[in-house]
Amino acid sequence: MDNRNGVPVVDGREEDSRTETNRSGLSRRQALGALASAAAAAGMAGSPAAAAPKKPGKPTGPAAKEAFIDDLIARMTVDEKVGQLRLISIGPEMPHAKLMDEVAAGRIGGSFNTVIRRDNRPLQEAAVKRSRLKIPLFFAYDVVHGHRTTFPIPLALAASFDMAVIERMARVSAIEASDDSIDMTFAPMVDISHDPRWGRTSEGFGEDPYLVSECARASVRGFQGAAPDKPDTIMAAVKHFALYGAVEGGRDYNTVDMSPLRMHQVYLPPYKAAIDAGAGGVMVALNSINGIPATSNVWLLQDLLRKQWGFKGVTVSDHGAITELTRHGVARDNREAAKLAIKAGIDLSMADQIYLAELPGLIASGEIKMAEIDARVREVLGAKYDLGLFADPFLRMGKPEDDPADDKAENRLHRQPAREIARETIVLLENRNQTLPLKKQGTIALVGPLADSGLDILGSWSAQGVAEQAVTVRAGIEKAIEGKAKLLTARGSNVLDDEKVVEYLNFLNWDKPEVVQDPRPIETMIEEAVSVASQADVVIAVVGEVRGMSHESSSRVTIDMPGSQRRLLQALKATGKPLVVVLMNGRPLAIGWEKDNADALLETWYTGTEGGNAIADVLFGDHNPSAKLPISFPRSAGQIPTYYNALRIGRPFTPGKPGNYTSQYFEEEQGPLYPFGFGLSYSRFTLKDLKLSATRLKRGETLAAEATLTNEGSYEGANIVQLYIADPFASIARPVKELKGFQKITLKPGESRVVRFEIGEDQLKFINADLKEVVENGRFDVQIGLDSHDVLVQSFELV
Ligand code: BGC
Repeated sequence: MDNRNGVPVVDGREEDSRTETNRSGLSRRQALGALASAAAAAGMAGSPAAAAPKKPGKPTGPAAKEAFIDDLIARMTVDEKVGQLRLISIGPEMPHAKLMDEVAAGRIGGSFNTVIRRDNRPLQEAAVKRSRLKIPLFFAYDVVHGHRTTFPIPLALAASFDMAVIERMARVSAIEASDDSIDMTFAPMVDISHDPRWGRTSEGFGEDPYLVSECARASVRGFQGAAPDKPDTIMAAVKHFALYGAVEGGRDYNTVDMSPLRMHQVYLPPYKAAIDAGAGGVMVALNSINGIPATSNVWLLQDLLRKQWGFKGVTVSDHGAITELTRHGVARDNREAAKLAIKAGIDLSMADQIYLAELPGLIASGEIKMAEIDARVREVLGAKYDLGLFADPFLRMGKPEDDPADDKAENRLHRQPAREIARETIVLLENRNQTLPLKKQGTIALVGPLADSGLDILGSWSAQGVAEQAVTVRAGIEKAIEGKAKLLTARGSNVLDDEKVVEYLNFLNWDKPEVVQDPRPIETMIEEAVSVASQADVVIAVVGEVRGMSHESSSRVTIDMPGSQRRLLQALKATGKPLVVVLMNGRPLAIGWEKDNADALLETWYTGTEGGNAIADVLFGDHNPSAKLPISFPRSAGQIPTYYNALRIGRPFTPGKPGNYTSQYFEEEQGPLYPFGFGLSYSRFTLKDLKLSATRLKRGETLAAEATLTNEGSYEGANIVQLYIADPFASIARPVKELKGFQKITLKPGESRVVRFEIGEDQLKFINADLKEVVENGRFDVQIGLDSHDVLVQSFELV
């Protein structure tokens, strides 16, 4: 996505003739010595008071860092302090030249959306050569699921249930982004979502606190690598703190009103997990929480984040969020908004003038004390210190002669990891009569408006991903069957029919219209598709959502298959040819018809640069799918929320005894269409013989739960064995079950393995009515299954 918030990203300048020789962090590291001395030389100029910050000397460690920052703060003017608290995006109001002057004047702490070395080097030079104190800038960007190479969207990554996959995605993204001089990413996004109408569901890791927390940790590990001051790492700023995923009605930017119990039990753990994993930054959410905007929320940012959780890193407002305090109605003007944000603890104000304009006056009047400003500045400088920028401001920039000649060069991509990762995220939902895998023979019809879209397959927030470099489903299939089978294609329909919706999406964020409509009448397009299908042995239909539908500010009122795509599928089904439906979407869709009628149904989400190859790998059996849904799929929007780990209630609907006066919607079947954790394989897996090593567990001890997984089919493959625990009697109503562990197990045909989980107090604890973490004695039900619904159950007593 090249154009965020109407702000074009700087890139694609005239290329020079230099060849790119510096691809890896390693070779760049070798260049650092020379650069460090150049930077040191640059820091020599100026009066003593204005001398460059002394390089952090040895020994390092927290004390050295504090001393270094103390010294610097003592020498800063008010304006310089305020300057450090500004994170500015390049854009029409802040073109590159102006940005450079602002930096030189000491009025900017960091920049975002400037993403190539040739743009960032002069900015850094302005900071470390021209500004009075020579404090380096840092460069941030939304590296959410890739940088040059686009990996599957986070919701898809969560479907892998494979933390090595997520860590690898983040590691490679960091290598690419740091090679482009990026120091910090606004990721991972760990907002739990129970409402698929919310377009940003695609950016998060789903509905479950345990899974999302694991994904958060793996992302931070990958982005930050060995340490945030290494040249091939980027600092993770976890977002959006907090509870953004719970916006009422799934309408973006709406308010959040939530009990403290639910916050602590469900929504807060993933942010905490990212912080415990060492995330250096936190981006604060746009929403209010129980009436108080996150941006001015002292409880959230001081009591919880800093005091209770001990967070020592940097906090960043979301885009323009401080000014928005006036619209929330908690600040009468910008001056009050700036004051509230500082007092709450927002270090960096993103993309506005508000700190610059208001803080000096607030300090002069005594409404904000210098100590309060210093505390904010300390965190910004601390992040720069941790990023290694004081030691070497050009750490992630290398030497000019090593700049890539072509920023978008093919050899800057990591296609192999992208393909391998994408394959692990594709969920097989149906496979009647073993329709899949397909044989690479005969005639295949490929139909559907998303079959040949290089842009949509990238998903939203695709950073520097290039649509032309993405492998579409069509290209992937063509390559897979080259010389073996014949491919016939037809578009079949547009994704959308409603021109107002098209207009909205095209206006949203993009610098050029993304949704390009085929002007032909739908009847003509369907006719063509049916004719193509009739000539084929099998039909593959690629349908779903254009990527802008699953994005910021893209909340839907339905989760139905958009436009005439269902009609297209029905016409294809009527040909009698086997129908393989390939879904491309960033949220659960109500796919009841597809479930009942498709011969095979694949949820591919948005698979990224290598998406088409990965999808072809799965379609033709070069890869056996193993991914599972990280979020429940409702039958309809009216059934939302359908998350599996709901609290127990007094009148639950009981399958088989569907009496009146139990909790249900009477017009529709109960329960989700597909439960959390569901996904098939080409092989047939069975799980049997759940055994507990004891029926009584003493506090402080553990017991083992074991079940036997067998691959009874004829393909080697992996499955995700899931451990759920239910606490049926407690001091408060507890969830009907909660995920507490999972393991990805690969088995050859005929092979069996005993899968073992250890259970101790860690898996049994919860937050009680006093918001204390407790473990209560009594019965617990251990459930192990291949999804959250179909489980083996055994109980034990905690004594
Ligand atoms: C989004 C953030 C993003 C920021 C900077 C905002 O609109 O809410 O997630 O990091 O823009 O691009």
